[in-house]
Amino acid sequence: MDLYEYQARELFQQHGIPVPDAETVRTAREARAAAERLGGRAVIKAQVKTGGRGKAGGVKPAADPAAAELTARQILTMDIKGHRVHQVMVARPVAIEAECYVSYALDRAAGHFLAIASAEGGMDIEEVAATRPEAVARIPVDPGQGVTADKARDIAAAAGLPPATAPVLQRLWQVLTAEDALLVEVNPLVRTDDGDILALDGKITLDDNARFRQSRWGDDTDTHDDPLEAAAAGKGIGYLRLDGEVGIIGNGAGLVMSTLDVVAGCGARPANFLDIGGGASATVMADALSLVLADPKVRSVLVNVFGGITACDAVADGIVTALDTVRLTKPLVVRLDGNNAVRGRAILAERAHPLVQQATTMDGAARQAADLANDAAAV
Ligand SMILES: Nc1ncnc2c1ncn2[C@@H]1O[C@H](COP(=O)(O)OP(=O)(O)O)[C@@H](O)[C@H]1O
Ligand SMILES: [Mg+2]
Repeated sequence: MDLYEYQARELFQQHGIPVPDAETVRTAREARAAAERLGGRAVIKAQVKTGGRGKAGGVKPAADPAAAELTARQILTMDIKGHRVHQVMVARPVAIEAECYVSYALDRAAGHFLAIASAEGGMDIEEVAATRPEAVARIPVDPGQGVTADKARDIAAAAGLPPATAPVLQRLWQVLTAEDALLVEVNPLVRTDDGDILALDGKITLDDNARFRQSRWGDDTDTHDDPLEAAAAGKGIGYLRLDGEVGIIGNGAGLVMSTLDVVAGCGARPANFLDIGGGASATVMADALSLVLADPKVRSVLVNVFGGITACDAVADGIVTALDTVRLTKPLVVRLDGNNAVRGRAILAERAHPLVQQATTMDGAARQAADLANDAAAV
């Protein structure tokens, strides 16, 4: 689970990492009052679980409480990379002398953590990492030893960070271990005009496997920002929304992944990943179809099932059930193969829905679904 910046800020504060004064609010009026409490000037920051808010116009200074209200009103209507803004942080403006980047991230392949740090942090860190990788230090951290005072000094020195950042590096490691995080990132970690070190932005990804011992998050099911992803999770369906137009439903992650590839190879973009799993029932199929059809970007739907434990006739029953409960407004291409495929195809043929067509191969099905999506786009 990713945390919002304001939640990361709270954890930083609890672990002794200096952060700017700030309040997080839901309305423009509250933003004005918060700016007043901060002494007038403020930085208004969209709270969304995605980076690059600054570049998207979601982080803006305000010169006085009236401007804070106006700016907050504007930011609260924003959508940043598909994330609606419901809250803004009103933070005390900081006079920045230098912006650094620091993070700890799990390197699964290597079996240890990596400290990643750069003296050139801020909004262009991705570009720095891409064009001048030598400006970004990557130092392994043995999870058993952690980040000691010495290690923190080594990391700061390797990245050319001000030596005063070392205690923050050490505390940031404590945040990672105490909170069961897989990633903690501060960008920027700044040195102010007065020489203070402050964490101005934070990103934390918690390890969902450790949720049971992190009671503070309770039943907070804010894991899914996307309402469709949340609805799918509630039904036990693995669903991930993507950017394209062809809705995809399959059984088994491997088959669904290759279906995405084949659709892309046919010149269309998948709208989602949806795995109904190994032993899917008719109900699951019906739920899956409703989910995909609820995405307004979807122009055609491809159901690609290779029947194993999930028999194709159950899948076909699910599709027929769905056709009775949800109004099909987009063309549906179905490819059934494997266990009980013949019976499954017959069930669909008998239902004879004008928007449903069948294909016998995966490539053929992907081609049809891609063409249908592209035709719909051309209209
Ligand atoms: N409290 C603040 N005072 C002054 N400048 C800030 C403050 N918070 C953020 N900024 C500036 O805005 C930039 C973007 O903000 P940040 O919180 O890092 O959002 P994002 O990384 O999503 O773009 C920072 O790199 C920093 O230069
Ligand atoms: Mg940032």
